[in-house]
Amino acid sequence: MTKKMEIYKCDVCSNVVEVVHEGAGTLVCCGENMKLMDEHKASENNAHYAHIEHIDDVEKKVTFTHGTTMEHHIEFIEAISNDGVYIKRKYLKETDKPEMSFKCNCKEGFYIRIYCNIDGVWVTK
Ligand SMILES: [Fe+2]
Repeated sequence: MTKKMEIYKCDVCSNVVEVVHEGAGTLVCCGENMKLMDEHKASENNAHYAHIEHIDDVEKKVTFTHGTTMEHHIEFIEAISNDGVYIKRKYLKETDKPEMSFKCNCKEGFYIRIYCNIDGVWVTK
């Protein structure tokens, strides 16, 4: 049984997929079950920690101290409202500065989720 927004990875070929509709089946790639990526909680003094700047009531900016090398980088940044609605996803090239601006007027609040090619999934919630 999968859950919406879960991220799975194939340890054989490195395919990464996100569930957009839940189902009873098991995700398989390269003949093996795909691995559910754990969501790690980022803390300060960690390169996966989201520094959130509230420009005003609506506009926000999130930055990371994470490096930008071909070998180790953040692949995407997401802002997600606490009621599960995507606000924005930004895909990054290997050497892009890890930051994203977005507009959020969500009364339910929001959290940030990132995917690092080496360290996996990190969330602020
Ligand atoms: Fe990382």
